[in-house]
Amino acid sequence: MNSVNLKNAYRLLNHGPTTLITSAHNGKRNIMAAAWACALDFDPPKVTVVIDKNTYTRELIEASGTFAINLPCVAQIDLVQKLGNSSGGDLPDTDKFAVHNLTTFDAQQITVPLLEGCVAWLECKIIPEPHNQNTYDLFIAEVVSAYADERVFSNGRWHFEGDDQETLDKLRTIHHVAGGAFFATGQAIQAGQPD
Ligand SMILES: Cc1cc2nc3c(=O)[nH]c(=O)nc-3n(C[C@H](O)[C@H](O)[C@H](O)COP(=O)(O)O)c2cc1C
Repeated sequence: MNSVNLKNAYRLLNHGPTTLITSAHNGKRNIMAAAWACALDFDPPKVTVVIDKNTYTRELIEASGTFAINLPCVAQIDLVQKLGNSSGGDLPDTDKFAVHNLTTFDAQQITVPLLEGCVAWLECKIIPEPHNQNTYDLFIAEVVSAYADERVFSNGRWHFEGDDQETLDKLRTIHHVAGGAFFATGQAIQAGQPD
């Protein structure tokens, strides 16, 4: 057993799917990478996401009370790195969507762009918790609508194996560890039924 430096302890848990958070307010829109997004509750469905105070995303989501979680895939890994290492706040006359030539479509329940080419989308309304937000940069939100690419998610399950494996491999979700190193989600395995 190797001891893990405490500053790297988060990396042991970090490989949940990396997300792209989209936001919009007052004619401005933005997109950033976020690895620290997590399910919180079943019904009504809730999630948490950590959004740093220095981000432009934070400004937009606090103003609008909404954001969307887009789940990018292997085909978008370089884009995710770029979106996570640049700020929409540095682009007064344009935005990251235009800079990276991104195609979006409208969300159904909130006014936030969703990114084409991702494999799932969750529309979220923030449940205000000022203490958590200010102290931990932690946002709790209710998921008000969700959809997924049926090639890889149907009947409530992810499935990345099939006839056209080359295409499906590019649609695998990505899981950031650190410094631009990701895992692609792996082979599905099924546990036996408990006695
Ligand atoms: C793979 C990856 C994961 C990231 N995860 C998070 C995260 O969970 N929370 C966060 O606040 N920033 C995270 N970041 C950093 C933001 O994406 C980064 O600060 C970004 O430039 C903010 O963009 P914005 O200012 O346009 O909102 C991550 C960056 C990368 C590359």
